Amino acid sequence: MTLHPLLAGRWSARGYDPAAEIAPEQLEAILEAGRWAPTGGGVQPVRYLVGLRGDATFTGIVDGLKRGNQSWTPAAAALVVLCTTDQPDEPKMHDYGAVDVGLAAGQMIIQAQAEGWNAHPIGGFRTELLTERFNIPAGTRPLLTLAIGRIADALTVDPDIAERDRRPRTRLPLAEVTYADTWGTPLGSGGTFGLPEVAE
Ligand SMILES: Cc1cc2nc3c(=O)[nH]c(=O)nc-3n(C[C@H](O)[C@H](O)[C@H](O)COP(=O)(O)O)c2cc1C
Repeated sequence: MTLHPLLAGRWSARGYDPAAEIAPEQLEAILEAGRWAPTGGGVQPVRYLVGLRGDATFTGIVDGLKRGNQSWTPAAAALVVLCTTDQPDEPKMHDYGAVDVGLAAGQMIIQAQAEGWNAHPIGGFRTELLTERFNIPAGTRPLLTLAIGRIADALTVDPDIAERDRRPRTRLPLAEVTYADTWGTPLGSGGTFGLPEVAE
């Protein structure tokens, strides 16, 4: 199987180098990757709250994360909260806000990877804390935070964090999650498409 190297090399790391600083043009390229992601109906509902390690926005975002994420995110070079702007007068747009955020995040993660950075999606934050701290308007929902960091030498990282980073990454086999003909019938079971039994 030939997965693109940027996809094959991507993973959600936690052991970041606390001294690594991201160049403004690299951060801008990552944000541009989000901006150019497709959105439902082209409505562009995604907004980005951007903190650089050391600034008040970064600290505010860390404070809004759940405890488990506060242990490793301070070493990130940047934290970006992706929000979706709901548009109550056009409910259809609202339906796709999460999809739009996901697509933007996916592009940002791969752009970060291409720039030599790791990007780790985080859903574990307290919406009400971020909303209050950053005065996020009603109808705008923070949905995902991206930690962007430089992967550190595992020997320099807190052992608990290093242990989590060493855990094996697995996926369900492709044949278990792809269907054709009827729901649950594995794609290729008719013999027309030779998918491998296991794809991890
Ligand atoms: C919507 C979403 C929320 C996530 N929330 C967290 C989180 O709060 N903390 C964390 O450490 N990782 C979080 N992750 C990362 C996942 O745990 C990770 O992507 C998954 O285990 C697969 O590992 P991989 O990205 O290395 O392939 C989240 C990922 C997604 C897509």
